[in-house]
Amino acid sequence: MNLHHIGAQHSILNHFIAESRDRHIQADRMRFRKNMERIGEILGYELSKTLSYHNKSIATPLGAKNVPLVTDEIVICSILRAGIPFHNGLLNYFDHAENAFISAYRHHTGNDDDFEIVVEYLSSPSLEGKTLLLADPMLATGQSLIAVYEALKKLGTPSEIHLLAVIGAQAGIARVKEHFPTDTHLWIAAIDDELNDKGYIVPGLGDAGDLAYGTKLQH
Ligand code: URA
Repeated sequence: MNLHHIGAQHSILNHFIAESRDRHIQADRMRFRKNMERIGEILGYELSKTLSYHNKSIATPLGAKNVPLVTDEIVICSILRAGIPFHNGLLNYFDHAENAFISAYRHHTGNDDDFEIVVEYLSSPSLEGKTLLLADPMLATGQSLIAVYEALKKLGTPSEIHLLAVIGAQAGIARVKEHFPTDTHLWIAAIDDELNDKGYIVPGLGDAGDLAYGTKLQH
């Protein structure tokens, strides 16, 4: 797997990550969603440098200019519900992309620390020969991404897979690396060392879905 840790370089991206983590600033849901979106835009821009391009002649009012344009047929797929603002950021830049949505939630089987990933809702175009951007803001255990990838397999084989995450835990990254094809790219804003016993990233930022949309009842 090709790991691209974008936050490791100094850039304005780190301001958006810092605001998303900060317990005082993140309490403003609109700002939290905006920061997820801005991080999606930046990671999308970085990954765009690895896509395929062909020159197209563009007619201006004064002449013509060859401009290299992306030829990949892109499908952005994100995991409900935390992935929605991140998805919007990617779609701001890949505005002609097709879109897929899939639900994956943690079903607690007994105690709080023990859960399985349940995939229920799936809406997607064909993925055959396309460039799949699979977005999950919090790459914690890696179980959701793997469960989603298994569910997407019936929709065709993408020619390229780009995984995108805002924060990833080392353990989740290692697990995903084992499961996805070796030429998969992972674009990640920040990497944290630990997971707690509930499978949350530490220090992470908390529950991205709740921060974006409010708390929910457990089921
Ligand atoms: N999902 C979240 O929203 N946060 C985590 O830390 C892990 C999974």
